[in-house]
Amino acid sequence: MKIAIIGTGYVGSVTGACFAEMGNSVICVDKDQNKIDQFKSGKVPLHEKGLDELVERNLKNKTLSFSTDFEDALKKSDIIFIAVGTPPNEDGSADLSHVLDVARSIGQNIDHSLIVVDKSTVPVGTADLVKKTIAEEQKKRNSDFPFFVVSNPEFLAQGTAVKDFLEPSRVVVGADDQKVIETMQELYAPFMRREGRFYAMDPKTAETVKYAANSFLAAKISVNNELANICARVGADFDQVRRAIGADPRIGEPFMYAGPGFGGSCFPKDVKALVKIAKDHDYNAEMFMQTLATNEKQKFVLANMVIEKFGDNLQSKIFSVWGLAFKAGTDDMRESSAITIINELIKKGATIKTHDPEAMAMAKTPAYFGDNQNISYFENKYDTLDGADALLIITEWKDFRAPDFEEIKKRLKQPTIFDGRLLYDPKKMKGLGFEYYSIGRGTSEL
Ligand SMILES: NC(=O)c1ccc[n+]([C@@H]2O[C@H](COP(=O)([O-])OP(=O)(O)OC[C@H]3O[C@@H](n4cnc5c(N)ncnc54)[C@H](O)[C@@H]3O)[C@@H](O)[C@H]2O)c1
Repeated sequence: MKIAIIGTGYVGSVTGACFAEMGNSVICVDKDQNKIDQFKSGKVPLHEKGLDELVERNLKNKTLSFSTDFEDALKKSDIIFIAVGTPPNEDGSADLSHVLDVARSIGQNIDHSLIVVDKSTVPVGTADLVKKTIAEEQKKRNSDFPFFVVSNPEFLAQGTAVKDFLEPSRVVVGADDQKVIETMQELYAPFMRREGRFYAMDPKTAETVKYAANSFLAAKISVNNELANICARVGADFDQVRRAIGADPRIGEPFMYAGPGFGGSCFPKDVKALVKIAKDHDYNAEMFMQTLATNEKQKFVLANMVIEKFGDNLQSKIFSVWGLAFKAGTDDMRESSAITIINELIKKGATIKTHDPEAMAMAKTPAYFGDNQNISYFENKYDTLDGADALLIITEWKDFRAPDFEEIKKRLKQPTIFDGRLLYDPKKMKGLGFEYYSIGRGTSEL
């Protein structure tokens, strides 16, 4: 099929590359010239495992191309995917301006029958709004080309996005037209040869599925963090608690972790958006409000442990911080707990020496720490330790899971670790001579 993808962020670029991998002809469009130039030269401007190879191969095969020319891409396509950002507005609602910009451009340029697929995460009713917007633009220029609007929310997770897209746990399509549903099923068939689940439904239900999925997962994290904080106070080990309760299939083993709170571009914004959608329909979604409140509190737990040990005045204290990305496998720092933790320590006077395998370039941009003189960055994680009073682990990168503890001990001023990801065994750490503080594991230092 001939496909245009509008927006080449984490979702658009992975979607485009994966459709191209299956033999479709795909043009990925972005308004960011710099991004497109990088993609064109085979350099993927974001970190996502396996994406470089897919882009390189499909650029070479000519099944994939990148462009800033929206009109040209639309002319050459039968299906156009909207995969632009939907960041939160002040009131928690999703900012639809990018989605509606694209809808207007479609209405202004459509010159043949088209399926318009909304892959961005959007509030319930957006498919209707996109339809109306395209129709209005067509009316202005006295055209009436047929088009269908489909909701096709995306469930990939950053860090495993390519794998998630190639082997989806499910594909959800919301459309009113049976023929369009069949076309979408055909498009996704190559990804569903093993155990695919294709769910067709109406657009509003499909739009709700995405918010429901992310709000459920975010709530699961907040429940686990709450349990971990209780464990820490009563002297229990959350790591063992989560394994034992996860053995109950009604609870389940996957996604049972405690940590420094969820971040990223999706969970915080999507839970906020669902709360706002509910409010707009006269319903107080208290469970999800609490999910957010618990998460905000959780972002301070690790910093509070440090303050508990070193006192409120951290002038002259140096902390080594491993991990800046909101989770392992990505360079994305949107709403990362690292931002809250580092800012809190700096506010108290501390100096930070940090390493992240992928997110340091992002951290140095003005959106995050810019040229903040209280932070320095190191390519080698061990170099952050020299002269530091303690090591804080914020992101669960594989590279942090089995480090050289002797080297850590040798380089730190005192052998103290604050582990936000429960990476190490407390008994082993004690045996190695570390003062080891970990979220959710029998320390009362919260
Ligand atoms: N990141 C995820 O893990 C994930 C997972 C599932 C769903 N989603 C949803 O998918 C959507 C995209 O997310 P993302 O993380 O890929 O966003 P992103 O911010 O990484 O990328 C969005 C891209 O859209 C481009 N863009 C904006 N307006 C445009 C326009 N008018 N024309 C062309 N390009 C335009 C931007 O330049 C940017 O490159 C969001 O709604 C998000 O909630 C994200």
